[in-house]
Amino acid sequence: MAILATGGAGFIGSHTCLELLNAGYEVVVIDSLVNSSEESLRRVQELTGKTLRFYKGDTRDAALLDTIFTENEIEAVVHFAALKSVPESVKMPLEYYDNNLTGTIELLKAMRRNGCKKIVFSSSATVYGAENKCPFTEDMQTGTTTNPYGTTKLQIERIMTDTAAAEPDWHVVLLRYFNPIGAHASGRIGEAPGYPNNLMPYITQVAVGKREKLTVFGNNYPTPDGTGVRDYIHVVDLAKGHVKAIAFVLDHAGTEIFNLGTGNGTSVLELIHAFEEVTGVTVPYEIGPARAGDVAYSYANADKAKRVLGWQAELDVRQMCRDAWNWQKNNPNGYE
Ligand code: NAD
Ligand code: WQD
Repeated sequence: MAILATGGAGFIGSHTCLELLNAGYEVVVIDSLVNSSEESLRRVQELTGKTLRFYKGDTRDAALLDTIFTENEIEAVVHFAALKSVPESVKMPLEYYDNNLTGTIELLKAMRRNGCKKIVFSSSATVYGAENKCPFTEDMQTGTTTNPYGTTKLQIERIMTDTAAAEPDWHVVLLRYFNPIGAHASGRIGEAPGYPNNLMPYITQVAVGKREKLTVFGNNYPTPDGTGVRDYIHVVDLAKGHVKAIAFVLDHAGTEIFNLGTGNGTSVLELIHAFEEVTGVTVPYEIGPARAGDVAYSYANADKAKRVLGWQAELDVRQMCRDAWNWQKNNPNGYE
């Protein structure tokens, strides 16, 4: 019996495949490589000494999905595959809705056709919107999303919840990630964006000399130092959370939602300074205007995952900085 990871070659997917293999699961991956490289999977196999099965293709390809379910005994699916750039989603909403929504609907239909109705989904803290107060708890009403990317996450949560309500033999786990950063301790797999939209890869690209300086998006937020506060979570902790979620989804019908965060908030300036301290590298920055759609605070109440899944984050922000830097300096051009 195997776990199918859609988007398994990506940043979070590759780290999760590694933890699943280490936990003894067989792993099958489908990835279009639209935002990743097969090299990440080669390295996952090298690091674990185990093999996984890779299909290059798109989750909108129903025939390919049927082939995968026919050729493998898939017990459950972890659904990472999505386009994830917030600014790109504002420019290309149709492509985002098509890729993320159609890709999910085709996947769910293929799962049902092939008798596999257990799924763990990569959702996001973005579904809490600006209306809710931190720390976010899973029972809060979801908020208003501010970009098409975030809206796809909200809509997919709804599609899966409605499906599980209509057909009680579905097992659905919605994981709301906070801000995943860092990399595997080996420095062999990590986050490899071209142009970085997110804070940590921008910091590491400045540190390695690929960008001149970082712009801090606003310092007038109602936070202690005026910069945005986020719940950064080490990608290895996040990956381990998926192993717990898979174990849970195998024998729990219905829909269950879990925040995967640390419960701690860190400001932009605190993250820059932590990075400088642990690496000894200076990160030049300037204060710029606030970025549209950003909130002052986003951090989790992570109690439910601890109570129900027996999972909690173990690695702190300093370790996240150390590992992000170790990956960046050993792989200045990502997987190229
Ligand atoms: P990523 O881009 O590194 O990984 C996504 C993978 O999916 C890529 O390998 C890409 O090639 C693949 N893919 C995209 N569309 C596909 C399709 N239609 N068919 C097959 N493969 C496809 O991103 P990531 O950071 O690893 O994110 C994984 C998931 O977690 C995504 O769903 C993302 O929206 C979600 N998420 C990420 C963050 C974050 O900050 N990284 C936060 C919250 C949620
Ligand atoms: C963090 C903080 C910025 C870049 C996004 C998505 C969310 C989720 C995770 C992804 C904020 C500040 C950033 C920079 C800065 N999904 N910043 N200068 O916005 O919390 O979340 O990624 O799949 O849906 O919205 O993360 O890393 O972009 O920003 O000052 O160059 O860093 O303003 O306060 P965010 P981020």
